[in-house]
Amino acid sequence: MCGIVGYTGGREVCPILVDGLRRLEYRGYDSAGVAILSDERIEVCKATGKLSVLESVLIDNSPNGVLGIGHTRWATHGRPSDENAHPHSDCTGSIVVVHNGIIENYLPLKTQLIANGHKFVSETDTEVIAHLVEEAYQGDLAEAVRSTVLRLEGSFALAVICREQPDLIVAARRHSPLVVGLGENENFIASDVPAFLPYTKKVYFIDDDTLAIVKKSGVELRSLDGDPISKDVFEVTWNADMAERGGYEHFMLKEIHEQPTALRETMRGRLSSETADVTLEGLGLSHEDILKLNKIVMIACGTAYHAAMVGKYMIEGLVRIPVELDVASELRYRDPIIDNNTLALVISQSGETADTLAGMREAKRRGAKVLAITNVVGSSVAREADGVLYTYAGPEIAVASTKAYTTQLMVLSLVSLYLSRVRGTISTERDAQLRRALWYIPEQADLFLSEYQDIIGCADRYHNFAGFLYMGRGPNLASALEGALKIKEIAYIHAEGYAAGEMKHGPIAMIDPSMATVAIATKGRTYEKVLSNMQEVKARLGEIIAIASTHDTEIHSLADKVIHVPETEEMLSPILNALPLQLLAYYVAKFRGHEIDQPRNLAKSVTVE
Ligand code: M6R
Repeated sequence: MCGIVGYTGGREVCPILVDGLRRLEYRGYDSAGVAILSDERIEVCKATGKLSVLESVLIDNSPNGVLGIGHTRWATHGRPSDENAHPHSDCTGSIVVVHNGIIENYLPLKTQLIANGHKFVSETDTEVIAHLVEEAYQGDLAEAVRSTVLRLEGSFALAVICREQPDLIVAARRHSPLVVGLGENENFIASDVPAFLPYTKKVYFIDDDTLAIVKKSGVELRSLDGDPISKDVFEVTWNADMAERGGYEHFMLKEIHEQPTALRETMRGRLSSETADVTLEGLGLSHEDILKLNKIVMIACGTAYHAAMVGKYMIEGLVRIPVELDVASELRYRDPIIDNNTLALVISQSGETADTLAGMREAKRRGAKVLAITNVVGSSVAREADGVLYTYAGPEIAVASTKAYTTQLMVLSLVSLYLSRVRGTISTERDAQLRRALWYIPEQADLFLSEYQDIIGCADRYHNFAGFLYMGRGPNLASALEGALKIKEIAYIHAEGYAAGEMKHGPIAMIDPSMATVAIATKGRTYEKVLSNMQEVKARLGEIIAIASTHDTEIHSLADKVIHVPETEEMLSPILNALPLQLLAYYVAKFRGHEIDQPRNLAKSVTVE
């Protein structure tokens, strides 16, 4: 995690760095810092806590200069503190580094450097980089960084500046994201494109083991052997406004409300209402590949994993191919059975989650073809997969994932429909039903989001409860898990998601007046069963919030609060059911007075294993 930025050009650099860090703060907010080349010195300014703390320090003390680097930290090695905040310097303060990643061999390197006389001031792994560059520096920063990088094990995106080379930032990448922004007589480096979107949309997505030598006048890319690399310039389509709050109190609320549009955009050009065609450009699978598939292995983490759970339900139901589901951090430690006829379906909003990337590489190594579903063009997952289907959700800034999830479900629905057509496992009638239902989803999401006062009332009533149990069945077991994850991560209330049928095997013992049960009880095959499970909770005097279909009146006798959502096909219902669960978590967190977009201990993009 962590975010890095860098700028060289003709403008005053400090506001550009702070603005860039603001856009990257989702990557970590334990501390922040900048280093600015100012009158032949490097001024370093850093502070523990959120970026706003650094900003207040900079108000009276902002160094002037036109070249600098900055960092926002999610702590891995060393607690959040001023000493551990980046940037880190060598012994003389002439070489300064920012880094995102983990240097796995930092301890032996540090021991060696201390024996050589270097003085360390932090507990971080990063500081070794500054001292290694110091040892290697003989008047050529690019060369010193290159030889340093060759000694590092682990993951890094780093940027280094040097007092003696005042028009130069040297950046390098291995397994952590790094992008270069190309301006007119000014250039940028960053962990993610939004950091420099107000200034340029022209981007180099840097590959592993590449050095970027960034000057005001231009950017040169080299391999770690020192050979020049040529790369296409990519023009991004997001604009800076898309990464702003746009009048909403929090990014999360804005992103919840963006879902109808995001769903429409994700469907656009893929599902035709007139011709009934499903077109999946970028799929990377021929009909022959699809017919040969013997298994699909889905790889994802967190919310994306919940999307994969729904995907399994859809694919097995429609395509009749067995689907294995793995939390990415488990896949490669269980010796999975994967061969050339296996499809690895990788889901990641950011496309940079370290566990997901590692799982994907493992599946690839074992011969699987890889299809990625991601939101970020040019991300590592997108670049390494054989095929990519983008969720056109726009930038998702809030740590709690919302629109990425529902658009992932949209893509999974389209993939299921497409594969089932190619394999001939769907009837014309079922195909038409699903298409009609899918087509209608964005409108239904719009309808739901136009009026949800009852959810705010519900959040008010339950925000002081000690715990929440979420229960669902079929595809809505994933909804239960996702609802519980949302409330845990932003409201800090203990919550569990359960298969409703499992309640009586243990969790029901927890029912008491301080425990709220959220029952996902929209119409579908197991509706009656969920009602029975609700009866069981009610009989133990549990409080129940039901998520129910619009015209369901029967449910009122069983639930203390009912939130109605528009009715759709059961398979697609997790898309619409996500909306009240997201809003409930949002308002509960708000009533509890939490920092919603940047919950404690978390970061948006988890680029460490
Ligand atoms: O970028 P990814 O989709 O790979 O991220 C995976 C998880 O880290 C992410 O979904 C996380 O669980 C969210 N914060 C949940 O809201």
